[in-house]
Amino acid sequence: MKIQVAANYLELSELAAKTVAEQLLGTGKPVLGLATGSTAEGMYARLVEMYRQGILNFDPVVTFNLDEYVGLGPDHPQSYHFYMHRNFFDHVNVRPENIHIPSCYDAREADEICRNYDQEIIKAGGIDLQLLGIGVNGHIGFNEPGRYLQTRTHLVELAAETIQANSRFFNAVDEVPHQAITMGISSIMKAAKILLLASGENKAPAVRDSFSGLVSTSVPASLLQLHQNFTVIADREAASLLGNYRPGP
Ligand code: F6R
Repeated sequence: MKIQVAANYLELSELAAKTVAEQLLGTGKPVLGLATGSTAEGMYARLVEMYRQGILNFDPVVTFNLDEYVGLGPDHPQSYHFYMHRNFFDHVNVRPENIHIPSCYDAREADEICRNYDQEIIKAGGIDLQLLGIGVNGHIGFNEPGRYLQTRTHLVELAAETIQANSRFFNAVDEVPHQAITMGISSIMKAAKILLLASGENKAPAVRDSFSGLVSTSVPASLLQLHQNFTVIADREAASLLGNYRPGP
């Protein structure tokens, strides 16, 4: 594990976009695992800029999003489909047929949707670079803290903290869906390279609990420490409780 501390959110976004750019410039047909959330917005804005400047070409890129709420259509302003189009896909030349976002409007169809999603990732040759944010409770994707974690893409009941944290995007907390489809821990861990972004003081406890050397399913992001090619980019606020801890070799 590598931890990079950025001076501020702007620098974090710049460093993250640079990592994606290096992946794109270095691979023939890159497969990206994408996250939504407010942390990733600066990185997407920077990637759009790099596309407009002619530095990046997304034509050969294949994308798989981590997660989506159950029951929200793609036109719902809080759906992750909507987020991805507004922040990224509508502004770059990713081919629509190369975009994958789990879609489930009826939880009874979830099993089949999840199985197909994992198959699609395998068919695309696996994920080259997986981008992640982190929840205030240490979740990644929507893999919530618990005694057990699921390995594959699955239907999940969202934790109370997650519903509360995400209610800032909705008119009221009871509008936040209680279920989502998320890639599982092994779907994420199979990526060749993983980059997690953490910004802000409210993420500092989750960053400390995830990356200080212990591993537990009650802090899902802590499992990423076991990955061979895993980098955290945290801004100063998010890294503030790490103290002098720096990962060993
Ligand atoms: C979203 C996702 C979530 C977010 C996390 C942080 O696709 O997978 O795990 O990355 O909840 O969200 P923000 O950045 O809004 O704090």
